[in-house]
Amino acid sequence: MSDGLENVVAAETVLSDVDGKAGRLIIRGRSLDDLAQGTTFEQVTRLLWDGFFDALPADLTPALAQARAEVFAEVSALDTGLLDRSPIEAMRALTARLADGDDLQVALRLTAAPAVFTAAVVRAQAGLAPIAPEPGLRHAADILRMLRGQAAPENEVQALDTYLVTVSDHGLNASTFAARVVASTHAGLTSAILAGICALKGPLHGGAPGPVIEMLDGIGKPENAQDWIEDALARGDRLMGFGHRVYRVRDPRADALKGAVRRMGTGSLPGRLDFAEAVETAALSILKTHKPNRPLDTNVEFYTALLLESLAFPPSAFTCVFAMGRVAGWVAHAREQVAGGRLIRPASIYVGPIPRAAA
Ligand code: SDX
Repeated sequence: MSDGLENVVAAETVLSDVDGKAGRLIIRGRSLDDLAQGTTFEQVTRLLWDGFFDALPADLTPALAQARAEVFAEVSALDTGLLDRSPIEAMRALTARLADGDDLQVALRLTAAPAVFTAAVVRAQAGLAPIAPEPGLRHAADILRMLRGQAAPENEVQALDTYLVTVSDHGLNASTFAARVVASTHAGLTSAILAGICALKGPLHGGAPGPVIEMLDGIGKPENAQDWIEDALARGDRLMGFGHRVYRVRDPRADALKGAVRRMGTGSLPGRLDFAEAVETAALSILKTHKPNRPLDTNVEFYTALLLESLAFPPSAFTCVFAMGRVAGWVAHAREQVAGGRLIRPASIYVGPIPRAAA
């Protein structure tokens, strides 16, 4: 048995390849370097979905904008009960209100949902009215506008597009695998996406970026990094933003996102990038000493945290923003599973007691 299904091949896919030795990510034949700068979320979504839906428009921007407007109607269900929950729990509950199905319209609504619902939840939890989507904007621009109540500068929209594209797909990670398992029963896309959201929520997976900010704030100054990190590891804590099941070298997405922070210019957070780099250097050195036989390098979440903080998302909503990008990959994998896969049902070894009669 492979603990955690490590190195077990559970599907053939045309969607993405994660090379953990080389530290390389390919999405439908395109390298991350090629995609990360200048590609919009709509373009990478079209790339991922190509061949999985009939009559897929060449440009998804208008159709996705229409889907944002359609799902916004569900925001009225945001009641006080949901407002007491974490943003991802509230976003998940609103997404569950969307009808199940397998057509392009259902896929577009599910892709719009994390963005529309997260912006509404974050504003409502701050005592602000939700902002309706703006049909003339591309997805990343409308996300920032629905969150802030005003248009975002293009450099920040480009930084968010880079993030959404960079995290859109990543092989058979836990949340994508969960989505494929549910899709394999032919339950429908809404069910598959809800499974993805549930798996992503965990701190070992998509729940890591928020705690990276807590770590940076806990450390406070570069000179505190060594002691803070050593104390954390001595407690048995894991450093959020480091280590990976597949990458045995630096996650290529870390530098793609650090570049986006640098290009954006973190005017609102002067010196934050330099401080984060100092913490990263200290963490890598200590992890090497702490776990000499286990390569533990920077993963996608460390600079995700810095980028989303620079875009003024609250850390409690960072996992929701991860879902805004990854939903494109979940949909593609769900469609690929239904198109060519069987019901996913692995075996297990029973290690419990045997009834006497049967012994
Ligand atoms: C994502 O799979 C994907 O593609 C995921 C993802 C995607 O795009 O979908 O890339 C997104 O989930 C990135 C990872 C985000 N999570 C974190 O940053 C949380 C911190 N990282 C870890 O918890 C851990 O590295 C995992 C969960 C990511 C991977 O762990 P594995 O492969 O299951 O390895 P393991 O838990 O068996 O750890 C092996 C050893 C252990 O020590 P021992 O018990 O053998 O002594 O390494 C240690 C661990 O304690 N270890 C860490 C560590 N990560 C592993 N120790 C300290 N800090 C860490 N971050």
